[in-house]
Amino acid sequence: MDKAKLVLDKDYEISKIDEKVFGSFVEPLGRCVYGGIYEPGHPTADEKGFRRDVLELTRPLNVTLNRFPGGNFVSTYRWEDGIGPKEKRPRRAEVAWQCIETNEFGLNEFADWSKLNGSDVMMTVNLATRGVLEAMDCVEYCNFNEGTYWSDLRISHGYKNPHGYRYWCLTNEIDGVWQVGQKTGTDYGRIAREASKGMKLLDDGIKTVLAGSSSPSQATFPGFDAAALEESYDFIDYLSIHQYIGNSKNDTPNYLAKPITTDAYLKTAASTIDYIKAKTRSSKKVKISFDEFNTWHSIAEEDRFSKKWRIAPPLLEDIYTTEDALALGGMLLAVLKNADRVEIACVSELVNCISHIRTRNGGGAWVLPPYYTFLLFSKYGRGTSLVTAIKSPKYDSTDFTDVPYLDAAATIADNGDLTIFAINRSLEETLPLETELRGFSEYKVAEHIVLTSGNPKDTNTEENPNFVTPKSIGDARIDGNKVMANLPKLSWNVIRLQKIK
Ligand code: AHR
Repeated sequence: MDKAKLVLDKDYEISKIDEKVFGSFVEPLGRCVYGGIYEPGHPTADEKGFRRDVLELTRPLNVTLNRFPGGNFVSTYRWEDGIGPKEKRPRRAEVAWQCIETNEFGLNEFADWSKLNGSDVMMTVNLATRGVLEAMDCVEYCNFNEGTYWSDLRISHGYKNPHGYRYWCLTNEIDGVWQVGQKTGTDYGRIAREASKGMKLLDDGIKTVLAGSSSPSQATFPGFDAAALEESYDFIDYLSIHQYIGNSKNDTPNYLAKPITTDAYLKTAASTIDYIKAKTRSSKKVKISFDEFNTWHSIAEEDRFSKKWRIAPPLLEDIYTTEDALALGGMLLAVLKNADRVEIACVSELVNCISHIRTRNGGGAWVLPPYYTFLLFSKYGRGTSLVTAIKSPKYDSTDFTDVPYLDAAATIADNGDLTIFAINRSLEETLPLETELRGFSEYKVAEHIVLTSGNPKDTNTEENPNFVTPKSIGDARIDGNKVMANLPKLSWNVIRLQKIK
């Protein structure tokens, strides 16, 4: 194949990358919480019931911000159900996922777990079937110091210090017909504005996230977002958008091209924000919270509605493979390429449900190939995102034309080290890559990490957990002011360059 070219110039930066883009999402859905992060009685569980074997897998991801508890779950959730003595907590029929929610695990348990995991929490309040006051009560419970009904109740539950949560989602995917409490953009924008106003009057340090579109394929995108923003623009801080991509046609070249739509989606969301900013004559810069995204094949959804009202059944436990690792990689590159507009990004979800970490109740925990894509992104994607000028051989797929075989982004860390993230979308051929470094000082190749496998459908299992793992086997080398590398077919590459002078 002809070589691809990438040009990086030290003076051409997109933006500093916000630490909150290394986020994730935990929803009491299926076995994400129960049997995932929490399983009292498991051989590795600590005294609070948190699985230590799972923590050993989540910690290295260095998740900065964890969204909780929803998700569709939040639309009929009463946050008060999950506080206080566990034996007094009510069991509820949870309608979004048609399960029984025991409420054994609530916001305080999540606070404790998040501390162990080293991540901050982004809370979601229910504005679908509840109102402004219940949202304000939750802020008072979590963030108010003491001396009020809700703050003193928290203290009586053993939490003297406020949780001090700074980021708050104003409900979830309320544009969706599947949501109990679905609203129009205008109706939602009004309640979100009032909730945000009340919540900020209680704690003026918080930032709020307006729920925008649940998918770029929703017919209401971006009209819903524009209408909701118009009602609330000066009162909120972020616009939330979500996206899941999948390989329903079992057409890998087409699937690997889909992150092109992620980039377009983020740009349209940014333009929608700009339009409302201009229309409302505001000087505020609302940013994007891409707080749910991943690949999703729904293979485990089959019996969701036939076997109702189970406790923590296995739901949405997709078996992710090498091709998913690359598709997720493309979405993460879109986040880096839009780092000037995206300040929060949460890969969905952390354990078991549409997740890259898998557990067995009472048994082991292991990781699927996309786990490593996120791990390497989180480890080396910090710092400043650079403009990438790309020239690449291209292909046509079922839904896309002129798809570059190369997808890439680059970051420069605060210590000057450079990282090039690059995907070769070809299933058949190695892609030679020539990267020109303009205006940079001297570098050496520290490592060229490659995640690939012979078959796009390769994966890991409990019995064979290390079948697909990243390896330092790449051949990147410096040649003057160029970095030359061969990107193996179907590969996610992390080329780490260390500053010498
Ligand atoms: O993550 C699974 C579900 O996907 C979430 O509950 C919802 O927000 C989205 O539709």
